[in-house]
Amino acid sequence: MDNVTVAIKTKKPYPVKIGIDMLNKCGELISAEIKPCRAAVISDENVMRLYGQPVRESLEEAGYRVSSFAFPAGEKSKTPQTLFKMLDFLAENGFDRSDAVVALGGGVTGDLAGLAAALYMRGINFVQIPTSLLAMVDSSVGGKTAVNLEQGKNLAGVFKQPELVLCDVKALKSLSDGEFSCGMAEIIKYAVICDEELFDFLCGIDGRKALSQEALIKIITRCIEIKGGIVERDEFESGERRLLNFGHTIGHAIEKCCGYSISHGQAVGIGMTIMTDISEKLGFCRNGEKERLIKTLRNFDLPFETRLSADVLCDAVMSDKKRSGDKIVLVLPRQIGDCVCRSFCISEAEGLIRMGLEGCR
Ligand code: GLY
Repeated sequence: MDNVTVAIKTKKPYPVKIGIDMLNKCGELISAEIKPCRAAVISDENVMRLYGQPVRESLEEAGYRVSSFAFPAGEKSKTPQTLFKMLDFLAENGFDRSDAVVALGGGVTGDLAGLAAALYMRGINFVQIPTSLLAMVDSSVGGKTAVNLEQGKNLAGVFKQPELVLCDVKALKSLSDGEFSCGMAEIIKYAVICDEELFDFLCGIDGRKALSQEALIKIITRCIEIKGGIVERDEFESGERRLLNFGHTIGHAIEKCCGYSISHGQAVGIGMTIMTDISEKLGFCRNGEKERLIKTLRNFDLPFETRLSADVLCDAVMSDKKRSGDKIVLVLPRQIGDCVCRSFCISEAEGLIRMGLEGCR
């Protein structure tokens, strides 16, 4: 199967290429967008060990002068301290505005490296080479970058669209089942917010082993088309882009309440189920949609229940950055494949979350 290209038509448009064996050809592919310059390959230590060498060699063959920066893997590295180490690294190596940052890895790497690329000299070239399923379908596209602060996730960041995104599905082979499921949660999210056909396909799939590389390319491409369309219409999240937060407001709160011992995908699985339960109880969507969602989550070993107390969870939801004054936007399904954003005052939202939580015990 040939590589597929999705064009993202944001203010500064860029291509996303999806295919097989792109890591070995990344130098050639990047040179079509950015002429050879200094390239900083930024990665966590695990991904650098797995894929740093072929990426570096391919860039050097295409004429780039490559330096590498690796940081300890994991969400705990997504801090202003790691960001400042990256900025120091770029300055110490004499990078200038014509040079490029290449993020090689999952969401943490893309968010950190993207923010460094946005801040360094007020912005240098940026390429995303996502290696996790979650980063391919979600975080590498759309330009969100951030670091966590002690007070919460992603509290300091900017929008910085990349010049190019390369998704090599061969890299997915090295993911654990848990990491793979985490990406599937985001894929299920896209299906629930706007693609019932994709949802029905996922509902009939017997887990990871039933997905060929070709099927993955199709699914990833479809998710990027959906995200690209939404981001083109609402780049800075003032309206429609909020749909992408389906299951996330509660999901982030669950992650926080569990001290980040639960994965993002698992938390989003529970968050989507709570929102669908609320929607059914409000009569926004017909009964049975939550059961369809649960069946699909089960296919990929994603949870849909939690024992967290309503008080603890509501406190965490109300401190979410998506809260605006005494209002909070919740994303609710009208049916599988069609979600809407609704603004609720805090006390009303709290009542709804308590109600939805009861249905997910
Ligand atoms: N991950 C949600 C967004 O990019 O808007």
